[in-house]
Amino acid sequence: MPLDTRCHVATPLSTKGVHAMAMPQQGMSTDEVFARLDEYRQDDLPVKGGRAWGFVYDAGPEVDAVKQRAVVTYLGKNGLDPTVFPSLERLENDILAIARDHLNGGEEVVGTFTSGGTESCMLAVKAARERGRAKGIEEPELLLPVTAHAAFHKGARYFGVKVVPVAVDPESFMVDLADLEAKLGPSTVLMVGSAAGYAHGVIDPIEAMGKLAKERDVLLHVDGCIGAWLLPFLAELGEDIPPFDFRVPGVTSISMDLHKYAYAPKGSSVLLFRDAELRRHSYFACAGWTGYSVVNTTMQSTKSAAPLAGAWAVLHYLGHEGYRKLAASIRDATRALLEGIEAQEDLRILGAPKMGLIAIASDTVEVFQLCDALAARGWYVQPQLAYGGSPKNVHLMVEPANARMAEPFLADLAECVREVKASPAEGPNEMLVQAAKMLTPEMVEQRFDELIAMVGGGGGEEGGMLPKERAGLNAVIDMLSTETKEALLKEFMSKLYRA
Ligand SMILES: Cc1ncc(COP(=O)(O)O)c(C=O)c1O
Repeated sequence: MPLDTRCHVATPLSTKGVHAMAMPQQGMSTDEVFARLDEYRQDDLPVKGGRAWGFVYDAGPEVDAVKQRAVVTYLGKNGLDPTVFPSLERLENDILAIARDHLNGGEEVVGTFTSGGTESCMLAVKAARERGRAKGIEEPELLLPVTAHAAFHKGARYFGVKVVPVAVDPESFMVDLADLEAKLGPSTVLMVGSAAGYAHGVIDPIEAMGKLAKERDVLLHVDGCIGAWLLPFLAELGEDIPPFDFRVPGVTSISMDLHKYAYAPKGSSVLLFRDAELRRHSYFACAGWTGYSVVNTTMQSTKSAAPLAGAWAVLHYLGHEGYRKLAASIRDATRALLEGIEAQEDLRILGAPKMGLIAIASDTVEVFQLCDALAARGWYVQPQLAYGGSPKNVHLMVEPANARMAEPFLADLAECVREVKASPAEGPNEMLVQAAKMLTPEMVEQRFDELIAMVGGGGGEEGGMLPKERAGLNAVIDMLSTETKEALLKEFMSKLYRA
């Protein structure tokens, strides 16, 4: 979400108050259309070059070319009905078989190709709710470590499941097993463990969670959206990766995004279930209307087949060896970063990341200011707010294009630490602190503009809604309650999409 996580190299064009264009009376030429798109794109985060430590997964131009060709070939096909486009069923079964093998699932393991991590996680929640209902659980509960991805909160809110937050160890950021067990009750339908968690790159104790899940007949979903594809390659390369997949008794479903470390086009993820009976709970069918009978494996109905074809093409183009090589480059860069960051006495790494997801905290340097300083030098890093025992920090996500950038990044990081220490920001003034403390979700709509102005944003048509330097804004957001933050984020989106 832009308001609390972005630390942009440049202010996005869309926040500059540029008005949406009306549709032209006469169509434009191809050249004009693409010239306009080029113009619109100029302030976007660069997806090439390895200076963005987030959002992009770049496996190089050859992989891009394969992906683009497959996407264009399948652009017009509709994933609504695989009996009409039988090649889609074939592509999906191929991908699911590869995914199942990768995660050591037997023939009984089945899955669904979804549009992304969020949809995979949400469908796991839906399946758990339906299975719970079949067992007579009317008010289902989801045991969710505070480190679990927001997608599970989304699933819980959409599907009417109550989230029961579970604490994590304040040093390792792994789920606190005692707290998990204490909160497991007769209404629990699902517990979630991450492999790895986005914020700290830590793998939860999946084996212990599986044992508990099995004993208590509760489902256990492993969120491997970001980690499940990469981690087996890292294990093969000799890294110490604990088992987290279908080898672990008690694991009943796993989400694994292909649009992350499998370098598939955005819109590619898989959700695997221990068996077909459980998967059936994630499906939707409706024959109760006057039109065609609907049966969906995912939340979308009509859907583009382009990501499916793109994912299939990249998996087959890179093959096992291709992925192994890319994993080795990520491992090397991650090691260099971890060593280089640990060597800087003002910085510390939260937890012990098992992959290139690094949260950098500091007791002596204002980390949000560090984000601004890095942005001024052309690096994109992601500020993470304090939550659930995790202090505010700077987040890096390492992907292949970053691999050769570890050294220059570390040099700039050291410079930025010196710079920020030498001239620390004053922090929000007393008036702002008071205003933030008093803000409630109900007041957000009315006070939004004033608040943004107080942190140096809201410059009108030319100035952009957000200030170029975000440290002050992030410091204020960090002070708000979760509910107020969420109201503020919604208000921000509402302003952004003003058409
Ligand atoms: C662990 C984890 N789960 C779920 C998601 C959500 O994935 P998506 O952004 O594809 O919806 C992410 C995204 O980074 C993630 O890291």
